Amino acid sequence: MSTLKNRAIWGAISAACLALFAMLASPVHAAGGHVAGLVKAEIDLGDTASLQRGAQIFVDRCLSCHSANLMRYNRIGQDLGLSDEEVKARLIRGAEVKIGSTMQSTMPAALAKTAFGVVPPDLSLTARARGSDWLYSYLRAFYVDPARPLGVNNLVFKDVGMPNVFWREQGEQVLSKDAHGVEALSLAKPGSMSPAEFDGMIGDLVGFMTYMAEPAVLQRKSLGFWVLGFLAALFVLLFLLKQEYWRDIKK
Ligand code: HEC
Repeated sequence: MSTLKNRAIWGAISAACLALFAMLASPVHAAGGHVAGLVKAEIDLGDTASLQRGAQIFVDRCLSCHSANLMRYNRIGQDLGLSDEEVKARLIRGAEVKIGSTMQSTMPAALAKTAFGVVPPDLSLTARARGSDWLYSYLRAFYVDPARPLGVNNLVFKDVGMPNVFWREQGEQVLSKDAHGVEALSLAKPGSMSPAEFDGMIGDLVGFMTYMAEPAVLQRKSLGFWVLGFLAALFVLLFLLKQEYWRDIKK
């Protein structure tokens, strides 16, 4: 084999390997894009303990009004390392709810409609539809507004029909405008949690909702790890093989 041809082949193989590496290593950007004024969600999908806490908060604080029709309890258990018994004890409310059931709201839709004027939407895919940063910002952006029926408004979702479910933990925020008309929130009455603790809790919750909107993301990540490992091993083998071939040629 001529040296030139050899070079060309090796060049092509290296380029292909590099391209594969680049493709696998680059972060996948979720649809939705950037919206001005949103705070970056502090979430870590590799942190199983955080996702477990998030699942707990979701069940305890959101399922009373919202559902998550696409999420099954046993799938959460499998993905987040909880046994069926742990899922039953920690996440399932009501004796009639099965381990294989989807997450249903405990409030009948008709009752919710009378209470809030709208039926609270299903939250299965919200993290994907709105984006994790939007969710994180929204859940932290409630403020006191006596003009609204529930006494609260939201800086990210104007005139929202949802009450601030975390008012005890977060405390009461008020809206102010500076000389340029820029709106900002400040804490008028502290809650039971410090702002850092509160942000941490919302991070856990948004992490769980991000996982819920695309449960395969966890498997994809661990699969990606193996694929990269395989490619690295293959690279070493091919390199050794190349040395072996070239030894004869160079002689
Ligand atoms: C007391 C009932 C109630 C509880 C509890 C509740 N919500 Fe809501 N939520 C609503 C209602 C009603 C709406 C619809 C608001 C509207 O469209 O104006 C809503 C809307 C939302 C939206 C906007 C969805 C969209 O895309 O338009 C999100 C996100 C949301 N809720 C998240 C949560 C999370 C997370 C929790 C748990 C921490 C929670 N909610 C708990 C009643 C509730």
